[in-house]
Amino acid sequence: MGKRTAAMAILAVLPLATVPVAQAQVAQPGRLLASNCFQCHGTNGKGPGFDSLAGKSTDEIYKDLKQFQSGKESNGIMARHAMAYTDEQLRLISAWFAAQK
Ligand code: HEC
Repeated sequence: MGKRTAAMAILAVLPLATVPVAQAQVAQPGRLLASNCFQCHGTNGKGPGFDSLAGKSTDEIYKDLKQFQSGKESNGIMARHAMAYTDEQLRLISAWFAAQK
């Protein structure tokens, strides 16, 4: 097989191999990370009894989480949760909750 033929063979196979994975990630970005929060904030951010996240914007949730992460404002539970995530992960989680109705 020449170089050119090999490249075409790879290009032909690539879409089939990558599309399902890409779709799974695009479907609900942040959901897997956010599932860690469901126990206390509900699967839609509305309960069962802790502070509601529903109706907040991505920026508001993200700012709250960064505040918790700094350790300056918290009862301890949220600080520990927030510390476990990177900025990018906190943004994904915030965006996911902000998108829940
Ligand atoms: C063990 C229970 C528990 C878990 C799990 C938990 N939280 Fe919390 N969350 C709380 C409590 C309690 C408060 C109120 C804390 C405070 O005011 O210091 C709170 C407050 C918040 C607030 C501030 C809401 C407001 O209106 O001030 C945000 C945002 C938040 N949590 C997001 C999250 C996210 C995102 C996760 C998952 C990474 C998460 N929480 C996981 C118990 C939890």
